[in-house]
Amino acid sequence: MPRNRPNPSALRYLWQERRTSTLSIDQSGVWRFRDLLPIVSNEQIVTLREGNTPLYEMPKCAKSLGMNWLLAKHQGMNPTGSFKDTGMTAALSAAVSSGYEWVACASTGNTSAAMAAYAARAGLKSLVLIPEGKIAWGKLSQAMDYGSMTLQLKTDFDGCVKVLTEVVQRAPVYLLNSVNPYRLEGQKTPAFEMLEQMEWQVPHHVIVPGGNLANCSALGKGFAEMKHLGFIHRVPKISIIQAEGANPLYRWLNSGGVGPLEPVTADTRATAIRIGNPASWKKAARVLASTGGWCEQVTEQEFALAKAEIGAEGIGCEPASAVTLAGLKKLIADGRVGQEETAVLLLTGHTLKDPEFTIKYHLGELLTEAEERGATPAERARTAQLRRQPLVMDANVDDVLRALEAVSAVQTA
Ligand code: F0G
Repeated sequence: MPRNRPNPSALRYLWQERRTSTLSIDQSGVWRFRDLLPIVSNEQIVTLREGNTPLYEMPKCAKSLGMNWLLAKHQGMNPTGSFKDTGMTAALSAAVSSGYEWVACASTGNTSAAMAAYAARAGLKSLVLIPEGKIAWGKLSQAMDYGSMTLQLKTDFDGCVKVLTEVVQRAPVYLLNSVNPYRLEGQKTPAFEMLEQMEWQVPHHVIVPGGNLANCSALGKGFAEMKHLGFIHRVPKISIIQAEGANPLYRWLNSGGVGPLEPVTADTRATAIRIGNPASWKKAARVLASTGGWCEQVTEQEFALAKAEIGAEGIGCEPASAVTLAGLKKLIADGRVGQEETAVLLLTGHTLKDPEFTIKYHLGELLTEAEERGATPAERARTAQLRRQPLVMDANVDDVLRALEAVSAVQTA
């Protein structure tokens, strides 16, 4: 937080002005807000020009929800394809200014991709601990491409965190998991950016996926600072959506929200949020309480369908991001979100992070028969409309034209 109370209109002007500058720290969608970030000397800032991500309208999804409009802030449009870059630029800059040689994280894939990239830019060495076989290929390939030392441990994410917690006590390695306070500082800036993109009109709801529960906390901090400093007069309700198979916060709240959170053994195809023992659950619970938002859970088939719907907008996202739309459907269905209200989905990762999930979904190979049967008739009909199976055929013009005619006939029927 700044030492002198800043003038909101002067800052709003300055932040916009910086977008026209050629300086890398001005072009960064994190560091152009540096007036509200912890001080790091400008020379030590490690940036890949993160942030400045688009806020898209989602007209088809809005229509099917009966809403006037729905927006998506696409954090997957960051340099390494996920929201982690906004926090990593801040944390890596802090690592450089503290003189560390090694940085490390445990990850479900996106943190490791981001850390690897920023460490490479900074000339630091990086150590990645990931659960073996439980992260999407796109993310693993990034850690390798950016030159990290990548260890695939025979455990889950929570097991990797446990190991790393001891490693950093025994070796001079800077911990870059989301408990790192600088990461939260960087990850609060999308809240500023969202408000700027909405011309300082506050949306009623912001819907965020929940895994380790740091992102919702960071956004909550961002909006709270904006209110405290007089940029806005109220904050949006922040709601957190978990996958049913990785739902410790949902369970805790539904069993009364008292006492310690009971970890679960997490299992979901949304590997990014396959987390049973979230580090930042207390902060997340405070954000829910202070903004008036909710925690919901969604099934595998619900977020798989939601992902296809986001894809059909020409936007796309990774499975963990799609829980936001699936969760919003539930919040609308029981009136917690009004159809006339404004909601922003936080899309956290790019669709190319996990193409295997998408391909399996469209081939009809993702879900089990029992899961498919669990869908409502409306969901089944929607899935049938959205599924696109690639056809294999001879390289023959007539065959291609026949296929085109067959599709047109179905679509006009
Ligand atoms: N969405 C994506 C795409 C993620 O990668 C993550 C977390 C989340 C949502 C959840 O955010 O943990 O702050 O609640 N990924 C971490 C990782 C854990 O290691 O990449 P959260």
